[in-house]
Amino acid sequence: MTDSLPSPRPFPEGPSLGWGVLGPGWIATRFVTALLKCTRQRPVAVASRSEPRAKSFADKFDMPNSYGAYDHLLMDPQVDAVYVATPHHEHARLALLAIAAGKHVLVEKPFATSAEEARAVVDSARGMGVLAMEAMWTRYLPGFDVLRQVLESGEVGQVAEVSADFGFMLPFDPKSRIYDPALAGGALLDAGIYPISFVSAVIGAPSAIFSTGTLAPSGVEDQAVVVTRHGSATGIASTWTRAATPVHATISGPDGCVELGPPFISAPSVVLKRGGGWPGGGEVLRWEQETTGDVLLGLHHEAKAFASFVGDGRVESPLQGHDETVQIIATIDEARRQIGAR
Ligand SMILES: NC(=O)c1ccc[n+]([C@@H]2O[C@H](COP(=O)([O-])OP(=O)(O)OC[C@H]3O[C@@H](n4cnc5c(N)ncnc54)[C@H](OP(=O)(O)O)[C@@H]3O)[C@@H](O)[C@H]2O)c1
Repeated sequence: MTDSLPSPRPFPEGPSLGWGVLGPGWIATRFVTALLKCTRQRPVAVASRSEPRAKSFADKFDMPNSYGAYDHLLMDPQVDAVYVATPHHEHARLALLAIAAGKHVLVEKPFATSAEEARAVVDSARGMGVLAMEAMWTRYLPGFDVLRQVLESGEVGQVAEVSADFGFMLPFDPKSRIYDPALAGGALLDAGIYPISFVSAVIGAPSAIFSTGTLAPSGVEDQAVVVTRHGSATGIASTWTRAATPVHATISGPDGCVELGPPFISAPSVVLKRGGGWPGGGEVLRWEQETTGDVLLGLHHEAKAFASFVGDGRVESPLQGHDETVQIIATIDEARRQIGAR
């Protein structure tokens, strides 16, 4: 047993890829900022449904190429990797187009809006021999690597329970992408995918899924709790779009427990509580991320990981393989079905 937690193992950066961005919205702005500030990756092109919007984004970040249609960007020979940053309903369609054009593709979460769509994308990427990866940035963060090493060391013993929550308060607005069923809104695909992915990362695919929740007036879920069985372990994932939650993630076992975050999605700290006895009795070890001020600069880790996987000739992420990506969406499909969401 050591008296400190392990250090994170950074990704080697890999080749400097030319990146093309589809959908110059909120997250695309943060992603490109992180690339430019923290990596050698090159954002070279952006496409919008509107030419002036694409041009204004390109000018802001000094990107050479801008397009007023998504498919035009896919013909740009300077683009090696496409970042899909549109609302959910377009993820699979655009990923398939990018793959068909021979580009590697990083797809914002959720990878697709159904397991069927997700399977079509991974099959196509396998067939074309290009990398397809969900932008589940949490998995590529230094704090997550500390957690991974703590679990591999067996400190908590056989995992009994994994629990995670991610909720925020967004007043109902039928036009918001989060509440609009036509844009594949709903708490599970937007925020709930984080806790569901977290449970999966630690204890794998569920053998049984039990879900309850409530619906917004538009018919998408605005709250969900998803309890899953994984052999002798239990997963508990909860999500809201009408209540703020602590955004905590915990893993419990007979020999101790570990906490990630809060908020666990940006993995700022890992706390290991050793000992299975009375609370407060055991030794506590802590790792903390040095603060950068802007948490979303952490998006650069997934980009560096992506480039290193391309450099290694990989077609799927070793930290979240294709089968797992499909399984996570399948879990959401089933939870939404049980809740009766549109
Ligand atoms: N990793 C994270 O931490 C994080 C955080 C927030 C969001 N996300 C994910 O990122 C994606 C985009 O979210 P966002 O918050 O950036 O959304 P956003 O600000 O609304 O931007 C989405 C962009 O997609 C384009 N778009 C294409 N079809 C559209 C449609 N029918 N309606 C609206 N916009 C459309 C728009 O650009 P043009 O019209 O100019 O083409 C828009 O700028 C989602 O998948 C979301 O889950 C991830």
